[in-house]
Amino acid sequence: MTNIRNFAIVAHIDHGKSTLADRLLEITETVSASKMKEQFLDQNPISRERGITIKLAPVRMNYVHNSQNYILNLIDTPGHIDFSYEVSRTLACCEGVVLLVDATQGVQAQTVAHFNSARAQNLAMIPVINKIDMDIARVEETENQMVELFGLKKEEILKISAKTGQGVTELLGEIVKKIPAPKSSIENVFRALIFDAVYDDHRGVVAFVRVFDGKIKRHERVQFFQSDGKPVVSEVGFFSPYLTPKEDLAAGEIGYIVTGVKDIKQAKVGDTITLSQPKAGRPLAENVQPLPGYKSPIPMVFFGVYPKAPNDYGKLKEALNKLSLNDAALTIDSEYSSFLGSGFRVGFLGLLHAEIVKERLKQEEGIDPLLTRPQVLYKKEGDRTLEPYMKLTIYTPKDYVGSLMNLGKQKRGNLINIIYKDRNAIIYYDMPYSCLLTNLVSNIKSISSGFASIDYEITDYRYADLVNLEIFVNDVPIDVLSETVYKDEANFVAREKTEKLKELLPRQQYRQIIQAKVIGKILARTEISPFRKDVLAKMSGGDRTRKDKLLKKQKKGKERMQSQAKIDIPQKALFSLIEG
Ligand code: GTP
Repeated sequence: MTNIRNFAIVAHIDHGKSTLADRLLEITETVSASKMKEQFLDQNPISRERGITIKLAPVRMNYVHNSQNYILNLIDTPGHIDFSYEVSRTLACCEGVVLLVDATQGVQAQTVAHFNSARAQNLAMIPVINKIDMDIARVEETENQMVELFGLKKEEILKISAKTGQGVTELLGEIVKKIPAPKSSIENVFRALIFDAVYDDHRGVVAFVRVFDGKIKRHERVQFFQSDGKPVVSEVGFFSPYLTPKEDLAAGEIGYIVTGVKDIKQAKVGDTITLSQPKAGRPLAENVQPLPGYKSPIPMVFFGVYPKAPNDYGKLKEALNKLSLNDAALTIDSEYSSFLGSGFRVGFLGLLHAEIVKERLKQEEGIDPLLTRPQVLYKKEGDRTLEPYMKLTIYTPKDYVGSLMNLGKQKRGNLINIIYKDRNAIIYYDMPYSCLLTNLVSNIKSISSGFASIDYEITDYRYADLVNLEIFVNDVPIDVLSETVYKDEANFVAREKTEKLKELLPRQQYRQIIQAKVIGKILARTEISPFRKDVLAKMSGGDRTRKDKLLKKQKKGKERMQSQAKIDIPQKALFSLIEG
């Protein structure tokens, strides 16, 4: 155990984690050069395409340092804020982190967030500046930022290029030296922390774990603390990075346990696995405490997800169920819309998570569903509605502070604090989480010419003065367009929505009256006049009575049509209204 080092690479998005992981695999000869694809650990195809890490991919490397053999377990972490819970669980499995900062970008919001959580968990830290091979690298400036912000010493900051490999061997030496060996006890009853899980069609759920106490072998029965399963283990092993079976997994190690359970929600990230029937002489599992810090992942953003063609309902259902096998954070319930038919209400961790799922549906399952407007998770307390709030961190060059504060005000934010460091500032806001759904991130990016970055954490739920805004066309409610909005913004949204509908709906033979209402009260109204067919065009003579007769007939016909007017919204218009 003394020769094991468990660590993670933490960084702001795109600062080069996956590229560094590739170099480590190469130098330690974990993956042969012929098999080396760029960004080896990003095995999820979408992750590869978008260039961001979504799923954690752990790997075990053998490394010889000063003639000693070491086992280095690296857990790569997802870089996006929607997945911050997974990052924190990863950190709980490690004794140390490599804090990677891109020299062309400098410190960004998630660098700060990762630094703080690594410190809070008392982890050894190796600060590293990456991309020093690039002409636009600002190595010294980045170094100064790290010294000033984090109180690091200049001489402890390594400088590398994950691309060319410069400095990476030195980094491996530092990992061995600075990161302590795990302090786990092999004498105790087996306890392991689940930091990820995947579903295998044949073998059921495979839990990725860090073992803290004791050991586990195949054929032993285990149990979870957060769910009821008590499966018999059919295999244990480590990541080479492929799943590689081994006799047992012992305290201090990182590996996998094939549990055979059929539902991934049984193996929750952050839960503890222990033995169900420990051998004689060991305490009963009931007396074992779970490892600290389990938090169930809470879906924060909800979308209606509908098939674009009603016939595709079955296919969509199957595809969603399949994805949820490997994505424990996804929640799926049935929903019905009179316009779109049967569909689902799907809960996601955040907007990016939703986008990823949508792309996976398209690429992996060949289905392109319609997503309605997102809504945050509201809570009911009697007849009051509570909405989630977040602590928002904006990390930005100083020049943009003024404009960002104007935006903060518009977005109902309460300024908590601004800290100026050198040429940068960290702004902390208390803000409704729903602001993330109304272009907050893209506004921040455009105000700061792309330089500001953000991080958030949900803090609490507070009372919100909300109303349900309903949209009607000729008194028919268009359920998929109704939306929960702040009461003081309802008039504005009502006008915006009715005008947009007016633009998008094609003219019909009958008049279309568009209304936006709150509890029956009309907040905005507009209409689209019908086509006017020239019924007299074919008449050559000037027979007054015939003309009158024709016009009267037309009027009657229109009245009849108006009274029967089932509204007819072309699919294309409806889809572009929904997708906004
Ligand atoms: P996420 O997982 O999405 O957070 O990204 P990441 O941190 O894994 O970053 P990734 O390794 O994908 O690198 C982002 C981009 O920077 C890629 O285009 C890399 O090729 C490039 N890159 C990473 N390290 C270096 C480096 O040392 N030098 C140069 N020139 N480019 C680098």
